[in-house]
Amino acid sequence: MLVLGVESSCDETSVAIVRNGKEVLANAIYTQIDIHKIFGGVVPEVASREHVKKMIYVFEQALMDAKVTPKEIDLVAVTTTPGLIGSLLVGINAAKAFALAHNIPCVDVNHIDGHIYANYIESDFHFPLLALVVSGGHTELVLMKEHYQFEILGQTLDDAVGEAYDKVGRVMGLDYPAGMYVDQLAQTGKPSYKLPFVYLDKDSYNFSFSGLKSAVLNIINKCNMKNEPINVADLAASFQSSVVTVLVDKTIKAAQTYKVKQIVVAGGVAANQGLRKSLTDAVNKLENVKLTFPKMKYCTDNAAMIAVAGYFKYRFENDLKKC
Ligand code: KG4
Ligand code: ZN
Repeated sequence: MLVLGVESSCDETSVAIVRNGKEVLANAIYTQIDIHKIFGGVVPEVASREHVKKMIYVFEQALMDAKVTPKEIDLVAVTTTPGLIGSLLVGINAAKAFALAHNIPCVDVNHIDGHIYANYIESDFHFPLLALVVSGGHTELVLMKEHYQFEILGQTLDDAVGEAYDKVGRVMGLDYPAGMYVDQLAQTGKPSYKLPFVYLDKDSYNFSFSGLKSAVLNIINKCNMKNEPINVADLAASFQSSVVTVLVDKTIKAAQTYKVKQIVVAGGVAANQGLRKSLTDAVNKLENVKLTFPKMKYCTDNAAMIAVAGYFKYRFENDLKKC
């Protein structure tokens, strides 16, 4: 089954073609990062207009890379939520027009489900499965007992992890999106600054990063006011240590409680080196739990993950109809 995926929820215009939810034949991505960098974050109106400019070219690129004709496509999958509404609409209109013109069914995909399914390109899923979703807009622990069934165990009560990384990085003077640069700095520093480790209730799977972010900003402001030097690498390492420790501890606790067979990590922050190392070390101590991270190129927004999720959603919905 050949699925064409379309993603335009934020600042990446992407079209991908994936066979049987696994084999990525094409994953064309146009990123607007260089444009939004100037503003220090995504400007929604600019993002929508850039999607309009690039969408057709990205469609053509994907079909060319995959060496397939529209007639060969069996299913179209498109991100419909969450995201910037103006940006989403560009992808939805393009996907629906393509599906209608070529008489192909079209399924709507939730962007977060797409991030989770990016892991399927890497490894089959073994249930029960726990997904740690860490993106620019979301932080969630999600339990899956079957394909396309999602139970949210916990989520952030304020900032998403990626958002906290970007805000902290901006105050450190780093370019948008700053997560990757904070991560790189953290590798060179020591966690010598005292910052909070926010667990909320002992039994809660919810997260909170706003207080931690404010604590970092306070340190920077105080140092600036007193004209004291800041060891940015050490501050980045301290911030990363607080974030990663809480993420890993809550993930391991949920994995043990729900006796999961697999943990997958989803979203842009899945690229974080500190998280990859700490979670790998922690999961190695568990028995019979497989840990999967998406390839770096599938961590941030892309349409391949939307095509994979769409493939499973379509199969799941059709199975339901048969019952
Ligand atoms: O999943 P994603 O592409 O977009 C959303 O769906 O939100 O994630 C983008 C986020 C940004 O906040 C970016 O700074 C963060 O992922 N990010 C990282 C790293 N690489 C990307 N955060 C921490 N460490 C990284 N290595
Ligand atoms: Zn995303």
